[in-house]
Amino acid sequence: MKKIQVNINSVLSTVPENEIHALEAGAAADALKTLKDGTGLGNDFLGWLDLPERTPMTHLDEIISVANDLRNSCDYVVSVGIGGSYLGAKAVIEALNDSFDAYKPAVAGSPKVLFAGQNIGEDYLEELQKFLADKRFGIIVISKSGTTTEPAIAFRLLKEQLEAQVGKAEACKRIVAITDAKRGALRQLATEEGYKTFVIDDNVGGRFSVLTPVGLLPIAVAGYDVKKLVKGALDMQKECERPSDTNICQLYAATRNALYRAGKKIEILVNYNPKLHYFGEWWKQLYGESEGKDKKGIFPAAVDFSTDLHSMGQWIQDGERTIFETVLSVEKTQHEKLIPSDEANLDGLNYIAGKHVDEVNKMAELGTRIAHVDGGVPNLRITIPELSEEYLGQLIYFFELSCGISGYILGVNPFNQPGVEDYKRNMFALLEKPGYEEATKAIQAKIG
Ligand code: PA5
Repeated sequence: MKKIQVNINSVLSTVPENEIHALEAGAAADALKTLKDGTGLGNDFLGWLDLPERTPMTHLDEIISVANDLRNSCDYVVSVGIGGSYLGAKAVIEALNDSFDAYKPAVAGSPKVLFAGQNIGEDYLEELQKFLADKRFGIIVISKSGTTTEPAIAFRLLKEQLEAQVGKAEACKRIVAITDAKRGALRQLATEEGYKTFVIDDNVGGRFSVLTPVGLLPIAVAGYDVKKLVKGALDMQKECERPSDTNICQLYAATRNALYRAGKKIEILVNYNPKLHYFGEWWKQLYGESEGKDKKGIFPAAVDFSTDLHSMGQWIQDGERTIFETVLSVEKTQHEKLIPSDEANLDGLNYIAGKHVDEVNKMAELGTRIAHVDGGVPNLRITIPELSEEYLGQLIYFFELSCGISGYILGVNPFNQPGVEDYKRNMFALLEKPGYEEATKAIQAKIG
């Protein structure tokens, strides 16, 4: 089977090849060894590192069996979670789904996966609940900590609605909780109510959890092959687990750090396929939360081309020269579509009549790469043979391992997220949560 590839040729006018290779063979190889030896910062959160290898078929069979129960009893399954308990499943499902799936009627045995708990939108929740009022639905509630406010609010509302619609006993059968083995409010609730549960291991952080039931259950409910997804990740694990001069995780991590040292502080993950929009969102969390700390870190952004060439293209081509791009380039589309010829040719498009739409897309990609490199935007390219479970599995593991290596090259702990707590503390103080009395006084004095 083919593998995803990394091409760095179009960064070499910004950083010399020998500099990248020195970093690749030096700091990146050391970082990978430190990860494998478990001797670096955050080494109690390395459960994701050999997860594809450690995942037994029986575990995947259990996930598929629970997914099949939900597929048989529901037309809609709401996956409730935020951050790492949301973005991985959303990214994979969107990459594999028909782009207009949401507008098609649900078919028995093949439910649609909806998402909630990823915001605090009153309108979003009201509209979701209205939509579900006459639907057969179920819930997967996902929270590693079991205490996150956004999913807790959404789950409280949806649980109440489901129980009112089908009764407590049937609701119990249609709710699956994914959370910590022992701790947290969700674990306690699941035990008391008798929900089917899956465990998120202590040593797997939220943003590294897509290949656990957190991502795998919603993906299986959506009808995708989680065994192939894990197989793709395992292929990448085997390929990249040891330092070598052909290790693409070392190469990507070394290149982006060399660019950062050369003043390129912003990385945009670019796709030329709208199905990858949420892959960019997943990647932003992975890299932003892992590296943005201790006043360091490349700022991860994501854009959809060619769409955003008509909005962000000017800045990227011509703005401050602190940016580089990493392009996700999908070689083969899922469908074929030829551009028709038109006798009147009023739009002047006959010069491309008979070509595949994707040929035009590929020329947009090549033309943009040349323009950006000429304009001072180095370009890294990751080639993906096609959008399938196997290649997405490869890509997920590739980015996870590269992220661990990159964080260690940068000198941060890639596996914590202390900065995420600050807004929560203020929000709880403002909402006068019990236990936050002192913080409430302090923040009220601040806002006057
Ligand atoms: O990466 C992380 O750990 C966080 O962003 C979490 O994924 C996010 O806050 C959700 O947390 P939880 O799953 O505990 O509800």
